[in-house]
Amino acid sequence: MSTLASYAERAAVVLNQDTSRSNKKNKGQYFSSLHLAKKMAGFVVLENGHLKVLDPGSGNGILIAALCDRIIEESLAVHLIVDVYELDTALTSALDQTLTLCQQAMESRGLSFSYRIYTEDFILHNKHAVSQHVKSLNYDLVISNPPYFKVKKDHPYVEIMSDYVFGQANVYFMFMALAEKMTRKHGQVLFVTPRSYCSGVYFKKFRQLFFAAIDPLQFHLFTSRKKIFVDEKVLQETVIFSGIKRESTMTPVKISSSFDPYDKQKHAPIRLLKSVLFQEKNFALKLPTSQRELEVLNMFSGWTNSLHEMDLSISTGPVVTFRHRAYIQPFSFTETAPLLYMRHIKESMVSFNETECNEGVALDSASDKLLLAASNFILIKRFSAKEQKKRIVCSSYIAKHFPYKKISMENHVNYIYKMNGELSEEETLGLAAFLSSMTFDIYFRMNNGNTQVNASDLRAIPLPDEWFLRDIGVKLLNGEVDYTDIDILIYRTYDKVLEEIEVK
Ligand SMILES: C[S@@+](CC[C@H](N)C(=O)[O-])C[C@H]1O[C@@H](n2cnc3c(N)ncnc32)[C@H](O)[C@@H]1O
Repeated sequence: MSTLASYAERAAVVLNQDTSRSNKKNKGQYFSSLHLAKKMAGFVVLENGHLKVLDPGSGNGILIAALCDRIIEESLAVHLIVDVYELDTALTSALDQTLTLCQQAMESRGLSFSYRIYTEDFILHNKHAVSQHVKSLNYDLVISNPPYFKVKKDHPYVEIMSDYVFGQANVYFMFMALAEKMTRKHGQVLFVTPRSYCSGVYFKKFRQLFFAAIDPLQFHLFTSRKKIFVDEKVLQETVIFSGIKRESTMTPVKISSSFDPYDKQKHAPIRLLKSVLFQEKNFALKLPTSQRELEVLNMFSGWTNSLHEMDLSISTGPVVTFRHRAYIQPFSFTETAPLLYMRHIKESMVSFNETECNEGVALDSASDKLLLAASNFILIKRFSAKEQKKRIVCSSYIAKHFPYKKISMENHVNYIYKMNGELSEEETLGLAAFLSSMTFDIYFRMNNGNTQVNASDLRAIPLPDEWFLRDIGVKLLNGEVDYTDIDILIYRTYDKVLEEIEVK
């Protein structure tokens, strides 16, 4: 059946053809597919009456079209007052066309529909809303697929949204933050965005402020990166978020997922207590989508140990090859310290072979800050390839197995070390084996949709008891177990009843 949203999707295909790839990238222009728009509209909480709606970054208006389709299909008595922002004037006529069709369709069913198109910059135009309450901006619903691109530190958005920004700033979460400010109490906020804001230190300020004002109702994850946007494949995992502006309630949060907006490979939704969703110190969100993930989350939520509790810390290798070129040379035992790269992180143990063409960092006072006194470490790859089985790839560096007094690490390597003293061999092996387990991988993936392994994320993760980690190390040393047995050991020791965190 031809609908308003299917009309808008067809128009978006044509608009896409008229725009260059770089132009679309600069504007963060990824048009919603028909099925995504329908899915978004399906999340709207609709009650009969008037609904004042905002769509910032509206493109050619497909989200509003899908909302009208739903109101018409379900024969609801909902009247719409719509404001849309679209900065790209090349889209204005197409946007106006969609909204005119919406108006005609709604009015032909006796429903009112009025709209205003703002060809303005959504953030600059509403900057006053960040700090002061503006009554006229009280929307009942904000529905948006916002632009996605990073801005530099000196961009005007960064100053306007300074309360939310830490480090790299992406425009999409600024749209979310501003939308919250422009939503009335008990109004709804509905966004489709990359999943990146759910974890990571760059988004911590945003998460704290946004989720203090917005009570989450539902997250819907797409496990595929295709067919979400018109003719586009995205690099990051995509999530739909729906929440209500109100004090936090006891209402459980629904977490659902499907392969794509066509609902292929749909998982039964999971309902989770908010305390579990936000259990980590850095406010990172855990989004389990299967019973297995829920079991793992349940296990971790009972743990109070952490790297910090064990007097451990994690840092990133200090050597940035293009910056420290002058200190890097072919490895020589007498003149350099071995320079460890990601490729040296092998199954369970670090492998650095002097006969291969390896590099070293000059052993001289000028390069001192790049050198570490040899000790036991756990080395972790900072990036993992998508096709890799596990997100965390790590191995132990046991100092006594190598003849070096100093070593060095390249910037794509994270390393765990003891802050006071030295990690024992058992601790090193035990912790490395735990971090390499399937169980840890499942937990870590719930944290994070991308392939980066940030030190800040690892710092915040709860760990099992110290005695347990050391015990794994002892068993590995004695040859009683190998790496493939670790998950069984974890389950035997920590498996609990599931009902504790899931709300049926
Ligand atoms: C990801 S697209 C989504 C379009 C549409 N909502 C959809 O779902 O198909 C984001 C849109 O925001 C627009 N945009 C980018 N920066 C903007 C700004 N500062 N203010 C208003 N619109 C902006 C882009 O031109 C683009 O059309």
